[in-house]
Amino acid sequence: MLDKLITPSILNVEKNQRKETINRLIELGIKWIHYDVMDGEFVPNKALEIDEIISYHKECKKHLSDIHLMVKNPFEYARKISNYVTCLTIHFESFDNEQEIINFINEFSHENWIGIAIKPNTPFSKIQHLLYLFDLVLIMSVEPGFGGQTFIENSIKKVEEIKKFIDEEKLNTIIQIDGGINDTNSIKLFNIGTSFNVVGSYLISNLNSATLKKLGKK
Ligand code: DX5
Ligand code: ZN
Repeated sequence: MLDKLITPSILNVEKNQRKETINRLIELGIKWIHYDVMDGEFVPNKALEIDEIISYHKECKKHLSDIHLMVKNPFEYARKISNYVTCLTIHFESFDNEQEIINFINEFSHENWIGIAIKPNTPFSKIQHLLYLFDLVLIMSVEPGFGGQTFIENSIKKVEEIKKFIDEEKLNTIIQIDGGINDTNSIKLFNIGTSFNVVGSYLISNLNSATLKKLGKK
């Protein structure tokens, strides 16, 4: 059983501050950094560049990376970054058919963990039969695209539903949640079944160990 971990997103950190912020997070005991990648098409925004993430991998203190691909062509991005990250998370909505999802898993799962993300309006039933293929399931608790949005409350029900399914089916898939996580919902989410809570703006606006503690970091 994996620990409950905060996996910080540095999306809302100014570009010239990101390296320093990652090092500070690692000094505070953070093991994983969550890197948001956007193409301006799948979502109406751009985020971190692939080369930028590779430079953090090489130049920052040692950490594990999970990369959240909010893009129309996940293969193109994954091929460039797969050697530098531990977990590649794709969006179910990026694919036209299930065979493409299987192709992605076949290409990358030898070296990487593979995660599947669903937007707030995508029901779990769409991916339920595929879940056993994934190391991680990412529940978006805001519309993907921007940091600093408000947590969508019915994401709680989705976490409960997925946790129940994972337990019943005895799967090893872990649950990650992303969007609007703060001190009012993080511990509650850990308690109902998430393993990785992505936290962006709430943590970055007050980056210290007291904030991490309020989020449930041991
Ligand atoms: C949004 C991104 C998130 C975002 C989280 O599309 O996937 O990772 O940066 O930021 P907060 O915690 O501010 O909602
Ligand atoms: Zn994200």
